[in-house]
Amino acid sequence: MGKTQLLNGMNGSENGMSSKPYSGEFVVNKPNGESAKGPDSHTNGKQKLQDTHRPDGSSSPSKHHASILAIGKAVPPNRYNQSTYPDFYFGVTNCSHKVELKQRMQRICEKSAINTRYLMLNEETLKQHPEFYNPGEPSIEQRHDLLEEEVPKLAAQAATEALKEWGRPASEITHLIVVTLSGVSIPGADVRLVKLLGLRHDVQRVMLYMLGCYAGITALRLAKDLVENNPNSRVLIACSELTATTFRAPDEKYMYDIVGASLFGDGAVGVIVGANPYPRIERSLFEIHWAGVSLAPDTAHVVQGKLKSDGLYFYLDKSLPMLLGENIAPFCKMLMAHAPDKLRLGYNDMFWAVHPGGPAILNSVEEQLKLNPEKMSASRYVLVNYGNISASSVLYVLDEIRRRPAKEEWGAALAFGPGVTFEGVLLRRNVD
Ligand code: COA
Repeated sequence: MGKTQLLNGMNGSENGMSSKPYSGEFVVNKPNGESAKGPDSHTNGKQKLQDTHRPDGSSSPSKHHASILAIGKAVPPNRYNQSTYPDFYFGVTNCSHKVELKQRMQRICEKSAINTRYLMLNEETLKQHPEFYNPGEPSIEQRHDLLEEEVPKLAAQAATEALKEWGRPASEITHLIVVTLSGVSIPGADVRLVKLLGLRHDVQRVMLYMLGCYAGITALRLAKDLVENNPNSRVLIACSELTATTFRAPDEKYMYDIVGASLFGDGAVGVIVGANPYPRIERSLFEIHWAGVSLAPDTAHVVQGKLKSDGLYFYLDKSLPMLLGENIAPFCKMLMAHAPDKLRLGYNDMFWAVHPGGPAILNSVEEQLKLNPEKMSASRYVLVNYGNISASSVLYVLDEIRRRPAKEEWGAALAFGPGVTFEGVLLRRNVD
């Protein structure tokens, strides 16, 4: 394949209003608990956040950058060890006789840099659903029946963790963005989540279905625009990814299925985003200074998904890691155009949350951006412990980064997927 470069036009969002390059002056909200005079009633949960006034007496139009205010995670209870997964997978699908194919999967698992993954499916569920792995049996209806329940259930667990950290009632969430690649239902997982979480009936809902591994950043980009243009709004992102949509018996004809079965795991994440955090009530984990998306032209064939009568089929071209490597530098150059000039930031002065799609993807990005190996350690940690959990992955990496001592003030989160799409955000956090 020839070299492909990113399109020049970027759909960026900065201060939620325009895509023009950043002027260089940052209006940063640094909550100062000492001097703030917020009404004490804010802290007892009785008064609504949106009804309260700020220390300066204004009702505070949103002048500040969006911030990530809380992150919560949830995984299904079944934990699989990567070294023994091929035994489980070939055994439970009655394919242990496919010795060569199993050895190939063992090789991929060894090279996957994954130790453990979590899956909603277990032996018991699979016994109840032989159509998930019996070749040629239609199963889309049964898969969707299961996913209709399980996708919002796991999303609700993660969102509950995020709400707990945020410390405000669910009724103060003004917008809901639900992300999933796992099944479609009408009404969607967003409607179920309103009930499961006790959200307001007029919560402003958006569903992001079937986008792929980059959609965690798409949700941040959307949330950024929402909170920067709707004063006092608070967005809940609920992302839930379950591989029950793609699980099937190993087949020599679909080698990328083996790659998928070796790399992908299940996991959900809830993220709360708001602009202008309330001092002493909310805490900014990361400010989102810029968000943008771009396509590598003429690469739509590289990652594909097809929804068929027996579930979702993926095609992952072997050229993907190389293609991402070729295009990552131009994409990051555009992202860096929105960082303050005076800081003269180099890539190794920043923290990095890169979508852990597979070790070859992390290696390719690391090499092209000439990153010191420790820059990828949060992404590699997520890969080792969860595998590739599609759109949830990059948000898990951000969760890991915020748990580590804050050394670098500026950073980037990047994710990739079908298109081939590059999504990125420029982030800032308070350093220790
Ligand atoms: N489709 C089909 N087979 C593939 C493949 C793909 N996309 N990528 C690798 N393989 C096969 C190779 O042909 C090889 O098979 P063999 O052992 O029979 O020769 C086997 O996987 C191992 O590949 P190899 O090149 O020896 O190892 P590796 O160090 O590249 O590790 C992966 C393999 C799959 C872990 C690695 O290539 C990777 O991380 N790929 C990216 C995965 C991806 O696209 N993720 C989705 C991103 S959103």
